[in-house]
Amino acid sequence: MALPRSDAERELARLVRAHDRWRGREVFNLLASENAVSPTARRYLASDLAGRYTLPLSTAFDGETIDNIYAGTRYTDRIERLANAAAARLFRARFATTRPLSGHIAALSALVPLLPRDARVLAIPPEQGGYDGYAPGYVPALLGHSIRPLPAAGPGHSVDAESAVATIRAERPQAVILGQSFFLFPYPLREISEAAHAVGALVFYDASHVLGLVAGGEFQDPLAEGADVLFGSTHKSFPGPQGGILATNREDLFAQIDPALVWRVFDNAHWNRIAGVAQTLLEMERVGPEYARTIVENARALGRALHDRGLPFVAADRGFTRSHQLHLDRAGLRERHGVAPGALARRLERQRLLIDLVGRVGTAEVTRLGLRPEEMPRLADLIVRAGLLGERVAPEVLAWRRGYRSLRFA
Ligand SMILES: Cc1ncc(COP(=O)(O)O)c(C=O)c1O
Repeated sequence: MALPRSDAERELARLVRAHDRWRGREVFNLLASENAVSPTARRYLASDLAGRYTLPLSTAFDGETIDNIYAGTRYTDRIERLANAAAARLFRARFATTRPLSGHIAALSALVPLLPRDARVLAIPPEQGGYDGYAPGYVPALLGHSIRPLPAAGPGHSVDAESAVATIRAERPQAVILGQSFFLFPYPLREISEAAHAVGALVFYDASHVLGLVAGGEFQDPLAEGADVLFGSTHKSFPGPQGGILATNREDLFAQIDPALVWRVFDNAHWNRIAGVAQTLLEMERVGPEYARTIVENARALGRALHDRGLPFVAADRGFTRSHQLHLDRAGLRERHGVAPGALARRLERQRLLIDLVGRVGTAEVTRLGLRPEEMPRLADLIVRAGLLGERVAPEVLAWRRGYRSLRFA
């Protein structure tokens, strides 16, 4: 007999249903950090795998050699092998793992085993678009490392080869971490890698934001251009379930990373997530290039359309972006329209249009819905009418959004 549901359970069910309807059917999501997960991957997230363990590990226990701590794992282990092989193919790497639970954990998975104690680490500071997790006081500091700034002072927080190389030569770090939360343009990676390797530093490429574009061959190919380890989140421009991934061509590094994951950075790797990530990797093998190309075309078209309508963006003279992101010119926005990005985002949210409160606009999810560059002027009109003119466009947004019932590239 089913237990009657408590009031709290009924409230929970109502909240989840309301969230799914609001975010899944009633808004256009332009958050650069998010994406829509494909239906098959969502099914796998809800599979029996969600509650299981496996730990394939040849180890001695009480005088016996065992090959897994757990029984019942014959399918789980094959799913993991399939996922890792797909990741290696897609990121053109010799070795890959889908075990890290998130982008942040993927970074730890590389930094914990590969850096000596008290290492000197170069990373882009948050005030120049870098990830807060690499700022002083966060991940490298937790591991006892000192963090020094790698400048990203070019247009749109881009990195200039000459100043990056000069900084690497002057600082002689043990590691350079590339990757940004505000990420518009590829790096001069060959020059940076060459300079880093000349002083004995490893190059880590945090591709969290651009992973889907790297997968589709539309950004840069970090491992081919000299990065030692690629890692990142699987849920920003890459449209997988939330999680992390890591890939490298270097056997010597992977031999240190792989055994260090379990019991140092995490234990259970969440196998339902890995099945969902595997599905997304396989989908990207089929449609990644067209998906990634359309995201970037949409971003550039939306940047142009918004800019033409008076909303200022950085890097206009460089075509706005080569990624899925656009960056509002925050000072220009205040000066010209007397509004801060946070207030603009709240105005847009009331009209069913989501951007973040720090000035980023992203096109990954609307591309998944099926929007194309020729539709960006219509989207820009709605954004400008809602955000700058204070018009009530929510009914129009809803009517348009309701026309997109399934995901493309899935
Ligand atoms: C560059 C970068 N790295 C890592 C992360 C953290 O990823 P996750 O949320 O998957 O841990 C983020 C999150 O926004 C990020 O922007």
